[in-house]
Amino acid sequence: MNYRKTLNINKNAVANSFSKAADHYDQFAQLQRDIGLQLLHPRSDGNVKAILDLGCGTGYFSEKITQIYPHCEMTCLDLSAAMLAQVGKKNLVQVTCLEGDIDHLPFSANRFDMIFSNLVLQWSEDLPLCLQQLKACLAVGGTLYFSTLLSGSLNELTQAWKSVDLQPHTNAFLSLESIKNALQQAGFTKLTITTETRILSYQSVIAVMRALKGIGANHVHGHRAVKISGRNLIKLLEQGYLPFVNGRGELNLTYQVCYVEAQK
Ligand SMILES: C[S@@+](CC[C@H](N)C(=O)[O-])C[C@H]1O[C@@H](n2cnc3c(N)ncnc32)[C@H](O)[C@@H]1O
Repeated sequence: MNYRKTLNINKNAVANSFSKAADHYDQFAQLQRDIGLQLLHPRSDGNVKAILDLGCGTGYFSEKITQIYPHCEMTCLDLSAAMLAQVGKKNLVQVTCLEGDIDHLPFSANRFDMIFSNLVLQWSEDLPLCLQQLKACLAVGGTLYFSTLLSGSLNELTQAWKSVDLQPHTNAFLSLESIKNALQQAGFTKLTITTETRILSYQSVIAVMRALKGIGANHVHGHRAVKISGRNLIKLLEQGYLPFVNGRGELNLTYQVCYVEAQK
């Protein structure tokens, strides 16, 4: 199948959302931690000398990776300057921080032995092109590890908003099939792809929205942020969420997660 999906993403708006969250991101990022730790599962390969943490956020995993590979040179790239400032506070040695965009990578060919990217590639406007660039800057035999979100993620919130209006209030995510195709088109080999469903639960719709805002993932492509205020709006949203209230009276929010290991 000839898969191609490009989005027109306002990168400044995405960077602003994440920058606003940067100083409290770590308090809200339990899901991102859990998924990243699963992606990282400690390994140590003596041949790995240069590593890229793509979309490093506050550098939580950059730090963990430098502990696993203490002699490595690490590059941390992120769209948000405020996120990179948090990495800077960690005073990691042999780490270079770089403000940049996953869709326009500034690296020379064969630059890295390993690329790690936790929950970032869902922000790419053109995944096949992004993966091609990642393959180009990976050394032959090098490995790309990434996690991303799949279609079906945030489904409850997407459905609940439909009882308020017909505007999109969540971003769409790619299917597993599209991601597999993009990896194959980019020419990666030895693919290991696993998926997992994680269901979080919250006390209220406000808590659901706060959780997304808390990590800065509240920018909706092509739309202005909607302030959740006004009793009527909240009531409508709560009604729309009723089918997704669990046995404990909490609101479910599903994340469909995809883990990928791929070699050049
Ligand atoms: C959910 S956070 C994950 C951060 C980190 N990888 C972690 O696991 O804690 C997503 C990160 O991707 C960054 N990001 C979003 N779009 C990006 C882009 N186009 N280029 C580079 N970074 C981007 C955000 O600024 C944010 O730091």
